[in-house]
Amino acid sequence: MKVRPVAWHEGVVAVLDQTQLPERVVVEEFDDWRGVAEAIRAMKVRGAPAIGIAAAYGLALAARQIDAPTMDAFRAEFERVCQAFAQTRPTAVNLFGAIERMQRVVAHAQTPEEARARLLTEAQAIQQEDYEADLALARHGAALLPEGARVLTICNTGALATGGIGTALGIIRVAYAQGKLAHVYVCETRPRWQGLRLTAWELLQEGIPFEVIADGAAGLLMAQGNVDAVITGADRIAANGDTANKIGTYTLAVLAHYHGVPLYVAAPESTIDPTTPEGVHIPIEQRDPSEITHVGGVWVAPVGTPAYNPAFDITPASLISAIITEKGVYRPPYRFGETPATPSSAARS
Ligand code: MRU
Repeated sequence: MKVRPVAWHEGVVAVLDQTQLPERVVVEEFDDWRGVAEAIRAMKVRGAPAIGIAAAYGLALAARQIDAPTMDAFRAEFERVCQAFAQTRPTAVNLFGAIERMQRVVAHAQTPEEARARLLTEAQAIQQEDYEADLALARHGAALLPEGARVLTICNTGALATGGIGTALGIIRVAYAQGKLAHVYVCETRPRWQGLRLTAWELLQEGIPFEVIADGAAGLLMAQGNVDAVITGADRIAANGDTANKIGTYTLAVLAHYHGVPLYVAAPESTIDPTTPEGVHIPIEQRDPSEITHVGGVWVAPVGTPAYNPAFDITPASLISAIITEKGVYRPPYRFGETPATPSSAARS
């Protein structure tokens, strides 16, 4: 796994521009935090954990740009930058979790120099923790799959979307390495094609057998008995287990429920939002209608066609068979304060 969506190099934030994949592999380097914030907004970096990591490095960068004579002035300016990052994308809670961690660092620092050093360490810790979380949750998730599993997934939840091997795609990677994964069906994921462009790109590099399907083909595959499990990521998990994820996930969950196929949600604990009691309270990002009416920048709808473009939907907890994090496997009713089961440890013993 050689993909790194965000990296810090000697005072510069490097972002792999995912809007140009798979045609071109372009890394943009930012020495101004505004570039990092814009990269998140424009989805050059996307995927809930990667958004949080990018914001953390962006804030570490901002701290170096803030030229404030006192700690109070530094804090005031830093807060303005935090608010700018908070405006970039509303649904992925990892963004807000990362901002809060960075704010706590500044609250405890005595001087701007101390804040600058500690902010970079904190950003690196957020990335490293996500790397480790992916490995742990992938093992827990792979233990749930049957031998010869055929899984269906949506969007991109891989190394491009996280600090590690990915969440849902991390499970797929580990299950394949364990020899128990037979096939992956990848929803193309309209309107931005994260499945077709990004997940396909990652799976090809890994040599994992897969086919991309039109989003609307999922029901037929399930009716034909070709899907053993649906595995998705999450952008925010409410305290009751309701989950926001890429638009189309709810549709998959209803289909999976109808066909008796388990639907697993995979995410680090940092994607659980205990302050949001239920999914109805999760803000849903609305994106530009041109993402629907245009393909590759070219109009395909009649000019003047209106379009409605919510980027995420909410899957109710009742349709989720299990939520897999680095701590283990939560089953309904979801109580995230309690210790979950760890099937991968049981499988080893
Ligand atoms: O709009 P995106 O591409 O940022 O949305 C990403 C998703 O919905 C993923 O499924 C989710 O964030 C999990 S990423 C590990």
